[in-house]
Amino acid sequence: MSSVNSEKLSSARFAQATDAFVEIFTASVDFDRRMAQQDIQGSLAHAEMLCKIGVLTEQELDDIGNGLAQISREISEGSFTWSVKQEDVHMNIEARLTELIGIAGKKLHTGRSRNDQVATDIRLYLRREIENISAELHRLQTAIVNLADQEADTIMPGFTHLQVAQPVTFGHHLMAWFEMLSRDRERLADCNKRLNVMPLGAAALAGTSYPIDRLMTAQLLGFSRPSANSLDSVSDRDFAIEFTAAASLVMMHLSRFSEELILWASAQFDFIDIADAFCTGSSIMPQKKNPDVPELVRGKSGRVTGHLVSLLMLMKSQPLAYNKDNQEDKEPLFDTADTLINCLRAFADMVPNITAKRPNMYNAAKRGFATATDLADYLVRTGMAFRDAHEVVGLAVRLGLESQRDLSELSLAELQRFAPQIQQDVFAVLSLEGSVAARSHIGGTAPDTVRLAIKTAREQLKQAL
Ligand code: ARG
Repeated sequence: MSSVNSEKLSSARFAQATDAFVEIFTASVDFDRRMAQQDIQGSLAHAEMLCKIGVLTEQELDDIGNGLAQISREISEGSFTWSVKQEDVHMNIEARLTELIGIAGKKLHTGRSRNDQVATDIRLYLRREIENISAELHRLQTAIVNLADQEADTIMPGFTHLQVAQPVTFGHHLMAWFEMLSRDRERLADCNKRLNVMPLGAAALAGTSYPIDRLMTAQLLGFSRPSANSLDSVSDRDFAIEFTAAASLVMMHLSRFSEELILWASAQFDFIDIADAFCTGSSIMPQKKNPDVPELVRGKSGRVTGHLVSLLMLMKSQPLAYNKDNQEDKEPLFDTADTLINCLRAFADMVPNITAKRPNMYNAAKRGFATATDLADYLVRTGMAFRDAHEVVGLAVRLGLESQRDLSELSLAELQRFAPQIQQDVFAVLSLEGSVAARSHIGGTAPDTVRLAIKTAREQLKQAL
C-alpha cells in the first residue's frame, strides 16, 4: 500500500499527512494506554466470537491469541513501544499485532470500531476499579468498627452548630461514619449494575452486517448482557458520570471525616492523637505535628467533584452518536479512581492509629451543659409542659454560667428554686453516663445500643466479602 500516511492505520483516504501538532493534539495514547490490558481482553473475546461465526479460521484465532499474549507481556514488562503516530491504545496494539502476525492481525478489526471498542475498554477498566475501591471502603469500614468497639463507652460532647449539644458516645459518632460509607459502597455496587453492559458489537454506531454473536462476547467478558441500542452504547458516558458522582459523595464524606479529625487533633479540642507515622512536621516550627493525611484528603475532595462537573459538561449537548469529545472522558475518570482509592487507602491505614483522649472528651462534655435537655425531660416526666421545662432549664443554665458550674454541680436546693418538684434522683439524669444510657432506642447513642449496631455492622461487612 502506498500513501503519504502509510504508517497510519486509517490513512488511505487522506492525500495529506496529518499536521505534526494535530497528530500530537488528537492523540490519546499517553493516557489511554492504561486500558491496554482491557483492550487486549476485549480483542481476544471479539476474535473468539469471529472464529465461531466463521470470519476467522482456527489458525488465525490462534495467531491472534499468541500475538496478543506477547503484546500483553511486552506492555507489562515495559518493553512495548508506544507511538503517538498510532494515536491511541487501540491502534497501537493493533499495529503491533499486525507487525507480529501479519494478515490475521489485520482481520481482528472486522465487525467492530474503535467506538464500541473504547466504550467496552472503559467499562472493563471501571468495573475492576470499582472492585478495588469497594475493597478499600470495606477495609476502612472495618477499621472504623474496630475503633467504635473500643470506644463504645467513651463519652464525648455531641455537637450542633459546632457548639456542645448533648453527650454522645465516641463509638456512636464513629458508627455515623460507618453508615455514610455503607451507603457509598451500595451506590458503587448499584453503579456497577448499569456499567456492566457490553457495547461491543455496536461497531461505529449502527451495528455491523456480520452475523455477530453478542451474547457469546458478553459472556466471555463477564458482562451481564449486550447493550440494547448501538447508537446509545457508543456515545453515552453516563456510567462514568455516575461513578464520578458516587466517588464525589465518598470524597465529600471523607472530607467531613477529615475536618473533624483535624479539629480534634488541635490543641483546642485535644480529643484524639493521630500516630506520628500519619503526621508531618513543619520545616520552620519545631513543635508542630500536622494532620496532613486528613488535610490532603479534604483538599482532594474538591478535585473529584471538579471531575464530576467536567464529565457532565463534556457530555452535555453532544448529539448522537460518538464524538471525539468523548476522548476527554478518560483523564478525569482515571484521576477520580486513583484519587479515591489513594484517599481510602490512607484512611484505612490511619484509622487504627487514632487514639481517643478519653478524659479530654469527657471533660468537654461536662463543660458544655450537655445534659440540659435531660433536665427538661426530667421535668416533663414530673408533669410540666416541655416549653415551660425549657424555660426553667434555661434559668438553671444561666446560674451555672454565672457560677462556672455544670448543672450536675448545682445543689438540690438551688435546682429546687427553679422547680420545687426536683428531687435527689435528678442527679442520675444530670450525669453524662445517665444521659447517654437513656438513649437506648434503635439508632441511639447508649453504649449497649452502639454495641448492637456494631454487631449488625460486622455482619454486614462479612456478607459483603
Ligand atoms: N481514542 C478514542 C477515544 O478515546 C477512541 C475512539 C476513536 N474513535 C474515532 N472515531 N475517532 O474516544
